[in-house]
Amino acid sequence: MTDRHYRTPVTINNEDDSNPSNPSAGPALTDLIQIRLSRRAALKGLMATAALGAISVGVNPRGAAAAPKLGFAEIPHAYDENLHIPQGYTAKTLLRWGDPIIAGAPKFDPMKQNAAAQAGQFGYNCDFVHFCPLPEGSEASDHGLLVVNHEYTDAHMIFPGFADGKAALEATTAEMAAFEQASHGLSVVEIKRDGSGWSAVPDSKFNRRITLATEMELVGPAAGHDRLKTSADATGTKVLGTMNNCAGGWTPWGTILSAEENVHQYFGGDPTATPEAANAKRMGIKGSPSYAWGKYTDRFDISKEPNEPNRFGWIVELDPYDPASTPKKHTALGRFKHEAATTVINGDGRLVVYTGDDEVFEYIYKYVSNGTFDPGAGRGNSALLDDGTLHVAKLDADGNVTWMPLVHGQGELTEANGFNGQADVLIEARRAADLLGATKMDRPEDIETSSQTDKVYVVLTKNNKRKGEQVDSANARAENLWGHIVEMVPPMKDGKADHAAATFTWSAFIQAGNPKDTAQNAIYGGEVTDAGWFANPDNVAFDASGRLWISTDGFPDHGVHDGLWVTETEGEGRAVTRHFLGCPRGAELCGPAFTPDGKTLFVAIQHPGDEDGSNFDKPSTRWPDFQDGMPPRPSVVAITKDDGGDIGA
Ligand code: FEO
Ligand code: CA
Ligand code: CA
Repeated sequence: MTDRHYRTPVTINNEDDSNPSNPSAGPALTDLIQIRLSRRAALKGLMATAALGAISVGVNPRGAAAAPKLGFAEIPHAYDENLHIPQGYTAKTLLRWGDPIIAGAPKFDPMKQNAAAQAGQFGYNCDFVHFCPLPEGSEASDHGLLVVNHEYTDAHMIFPGFADGKAALEATTAEMAAFEQASHGLSVVEIKRDGSGWSAVPDSKFNRRITLATEMELVGPAAGHDRLKTSADATGTKVLGTMNNCAGGWTPWGTILSAEENVHQYFGGDPTATPEAANAKRMGIKGSPSYAWGKYTDRFDISKEPNEPNRFGWIVELDPYDPASTPKKHTALGRFKHEAATTVINGDGRLVVYTGDDEVFEYIYKYVSNGTFDPGAGRGNSALLDDGTLHVAKLDADGNVTWMPLVHGQGELTEANGFNGQADVLIEARRAADLLGATKMDRPEDIETSSQTDKVYVVLTKNNKRKGEQVDSANARAENLWGHIVEMVPPMKDGKADHAAATFTWSAFIQAGNPKDTAQNAIYGGEVTDAGWFANPDNVAFDASGRLWISTDGFPDHGVHDGLWVTETEGEGRAVTRHFLGCPRGAELCGPAFTPDGKTLFVAIQHPGDEDGSNFDKPSTRWPDFQDGMPPRPSVVAITKDDGGDIGA
């Protein structure tokens, strides 16, 4: 999600990822000399790593050969109404906001919107995308289920008659609020590829909309705790819906993990008068929401239902293959502004999940299950997400990552500090991580593990609030407007990467920005072209060949469309990015996701036309329909290579 406070002052949604909620102490003054040294050391380390990359194929524990070279004709930086892709590729808009996907849902009519219709149509602002092959368990790449997160809504882009987000917020009616709730959540859509390309199967029995009205189960150590009980749910185990679903992940047993991110902005009322005042403050819940839902629905007013916010901010598991299944919120993975949930089966069989907290000065987390993955247990493996240990990362100047367990009774996480049990630690995971001295990062967005090397890539999108005295070795630039990517390497154990280990090593992979502007201190693995540099990395994905695809969110602040860049992570092309796709104006790029054969790339074009002065009536673009009266529509696009080859090769 864009940091719109910085880019679009008239748009009030989602501003808080650049407004810190983290009040914990910064580095002590006595550390400053060390920090400066660390910064130089980090930069030296980056260069050394880049140089080593050319000969580092031997570190690959899976024994993969060097990744194939990138073979496409790079596109230029631009900023216009079009979607840009390289010559020799075709882009087909597959699913648009409002497309009917549930049997009986009406055709999209932007002037006659209502919540009931929207609940059967493709939702707004698509973010995470994942392709689930059909039949389940196959490697099919021409038939499957597309699962898509719908992160948030822009009222002034959705409803006619409002100059900007503030005007729309002030005028929000109960009907508008209900429509917004139906536009949030997820979509599951069956899709097929034939001679004419990809298309949706509109009435498929698999198709499903998840919204704020979908019943979900709270599971894991915090489920049933008093702080999760409300007047609608005396058990503390049942909650209606999910919201602000951003990046995500998938599990080895065929389900999807969806990350609840900026949940603070939906709750009105005065948090200071509730027993959850301190907790609300640390989550950024201030009683000045970006949505008017609390006016019409008590549970979105924290003064009426102080525990309702505690039922959001979790990782949600959805079984896309069973349309009748009840999604689960797994409390063992902690509550914060989640982005990404990337799973790995560790060498010893335990499940490891990487997840970040997307706000300036927040943290990187890792969950390690107690039990081991059982290939014969199918969905039963879901219990691995309920019994394990959440850790938070400390990245030291010496290049070590220490994963610190968030366990009640250990260290500072005691009654004396207000943690009366593990449920408190999980509900207030941010405050627990503060007490352990975790490293405050420049907005952790997506995290992915390499399909080839087991290295872990953590994407930091930017932090314009970091001051010179707050610079550390892992966040080496003050007023970081460009973002960076950190590479973590788990140690080896019994010949396999040990993702469960307490200590990793880390180095900077890319410091984004324009390398020709020396003031930006941008660093790549080698020389990048004029189009190859980028800023504000957000969602990332590995293809089957081990190439890292990096989508951006915020590059328009630097005069360039958001889009997609790709790099190899080993060999000569390591950390040398090339430009593959550019978004229509106003949009950020999300997804990206591949079919198992690597021949289709799905991307999500989020908030097209959302920029200063743009609204439903006078949008800065009408992408993708370009029809009078039709607003811009967030959409998922399927990209294929005309010769039928692998994307990017
Ligand atoms: Fe929803 Fe962190 O972007
Ligand atoms: Ca994001
Ligand atoms: Ca991803």
